[in-house]
Amino acid sequence: MNLTKNTILITGGTSGIGLEFAKQLSELGNKIIVTGRDQAKLERARKSLPKIITIQSDVADAKSIRALYDKVTSEHPELNILINNAGIMRTLNVHEQSDVEDFTREIDTNLVGPIRMVKQFLPHLKKRQAAAIVNVSSGLAFVPLPSSPVYCATKAGLHSFTMSLRVQLKKTNVKVFELAPPATKTELLGDMSEEDMKGISIMGVEAMVAAAIRGMTSDQFEIRPGQANQLKFMSRLAPEFILSQLSKPVDRMLARMKH
Ligand SMILES: NC(=O)c1ccc[n+]([C@@H]2O[C@H](COP(=O)([O-])OP(=O)(O)OC[C@H]3O[C@@H](n4cnc5c(N)ncnc54)[C@H](OP(=O)(O)O)[C@@H]3O)[C@@H](O)[C@H]2O)c1
Repeated sequence: MNLTKNTILITGGTSGIGLEFAKQLSELGNKIIVTGRDQAKLERARKSLPKIITIQSDVADAKSIRALYDKVTSEHPELNILINNAGIMRTLNVHEQSDVEDFTREIDTNLVGPIRMVKQFLPHLKKRQAAAIVNVSSGLAFVPLPSSPVYCATKAGLHSFTMSLRVQLKKTNVKVFELAPPATKTELLGDMSEEDMKGISIMGVEAMVAAAIRGMTSDQFEIRPGQANQLKFMSRLAPEFILSQLSKPVDRMLARMKH
């Protein structure tokens, strides 16, 4: 995929991986539009990258997606790449008392959100000469980290949806990429304890996004930088072993609990 002179919409582009995508893709000569919920973060992003366009929008809200579609396609009809990047990750304990609706909150943002974005923007993307959808999943799509059970389920779901989408779009001009990042140094990891992160190496966000851009440029449709590649490999070669390695934080938590 040629990564210059495109118009690219990045959901959740106000920090971490999304903001770094905005920076590197803007430097390559693309027009960049980023979204996020928090207006102050959108303003900070625009201050740090004055060329980008920012729009407040929530991927977990269907009405907000429709409003985003109307605004972007009327103001930037040349839009041809959608990067579904917005995501949240939480450590959740099924034994703890919590609200049922809140327990599934990651599903609305990480799985329903990207699927709705694809459904909303696909007719427009199909009209462009060359277009792409990039779904940002995770290395944890291939094997779960049981301390974040709902998050990992959303990423496995997004991985599956992306494979089906790629097959359904194979005869169109829309390329379908999946970026499965490894643990990457961003705000998202803020909820994870040191114990959760033991044995996991953390990739710098600049290097991770540079690897993603290299993968897209060479039409590598499933991009698995760093340890994400090892997770996929181990999930095939030794699934029980890799799950037991990633279960250590939860094993420690269960050992501390009275049942
Ligand atoms: N960092 C990692 O280790 C890692 C590893 C694998 C995969 N990933 C994936 O990479 C993606 C980006 O994560 P990150 O690490 O860059 O996290 P981050 O620094 O926390 O950034 C998340 C971005 O998403 C936005 N966002 C959150 N909920 C949203 C919503 N409902 N609607 C619109 N925007 C929303 C945030 O802005 P607002 O809060 O203002 O909305 C922010 O701009 C996520 O899908 C994540 O699951 C990250």
